[in-house]
Amino acid sequence: MKRLAGKAALVTGGACGIGRAIVERFAAEGAHVAIADIDTAAASNLEAELGGAAFHVRLDVTRDADWGGAIDELERRHGPLAVLVNNAGINVPGSIADAREEDWRRVHEVNGLGPFLGCQHAVRRMRASGGAIVNVASVRGQRPSSGQVAYCSSKALVLNLTESVALYCGEQNLPIRCNAICPGVVDTPLLRSGFAALGGEDEALLRLSGLQVMNRIGTPEEIAAAAVFLASDEASFVTGAAFNIDGGFRIRDQ
Ligand SMILES: NC(=O)c1ccc[n+]([C@@H]2O[C@H](COP(=O)([O-])OP(=O)(O)OC[C@H]3O[C@@H](n4cnc5c(N)ncnc54)[C@H](O)[C@@H]3O)[C@@H](O)[C@H]2O)c1
Repeated sequence: MKRLAGKAALVTGGACGIGRAIVERFAAEGAHVAIADIDTAAASNLEAELGGAAFHVRLDVTRDADWGGAIDELERRHGPLAVLVNNAGINVPGSIADAREEDWRRVHEVNGLGPFLGCQHAVRRMRASGGAIVNVASVRGQRPSSGQVAYCSSKALVLNLTESVALYCGEQNLPIRCNAICPGVVDTPLLRSGFAALGGEDEALLRLSGLQVMNRIGTPEEIAAAAVFLASDEASFVTGAAFNIDGGFRIRDQ
């Protein structure tokens, strides 16, 4: 039996990196997946590769109207929204000394307002038929670095939001679970875009690998495995959790 058989799922930032791996695993596990992204070209390419198990829809997570339209489209095709993965995220480096206000606002819009709107829409839609929300936070929400003040605080927000949503659903007796994943360093285009600033690929991989107890960086597929579990009925007694898939990053002396 496939672990997500027949479930209608929406994955934000699903065209690339961790989101793409989640879309691929969800499709392989029998879900009907909406690849919800601002990069419609990449999303449409992935749709073609998956041949019918997924479709793409343009969604900017910071725009409330986009959310309604994207979920309407998914529900029209495949029935009630059963799984939402709030994965889309951006990082603009900067410390408290040099981060620009506009960068702080943008990072918090995508990484904070985006999941807030997603959870709000999901709770409204899942109220009767139930479902699972998976928020992709980061170990940086638990262990901040000085050089990414906006990113780290936005990910701490996601962890707190996850608990707040889980509490609300419990208090209201809603059949909705809400959990977070905290990845460590994962090999994606977002990560590789910063390699030049870290002295090139070899130097960057060495430095970033050393942040994990396991002395390597992770793969998007390793994060997707956790998303499948949290989205599936196997996680029926899990809510309000922060699931670290981080190769031991959180427990390592930095
Ligand atoms: N890569 C890592 O090391 C790492 C570690 C911890 C957490 N994360 C988190 O995992 C998530 C995915 O990261 P990634 O490395 O795969 O990133 P990525 O840049 O490789 O992919 C992000 C995707 O999100 C989309 N996106 C960006 N802004 C959007 C918006 N406003 N609306 C909809 N889609 C949007 C992009 O088009 C892209 O397809 C992010 O939330 C990130 O913070 C990544």
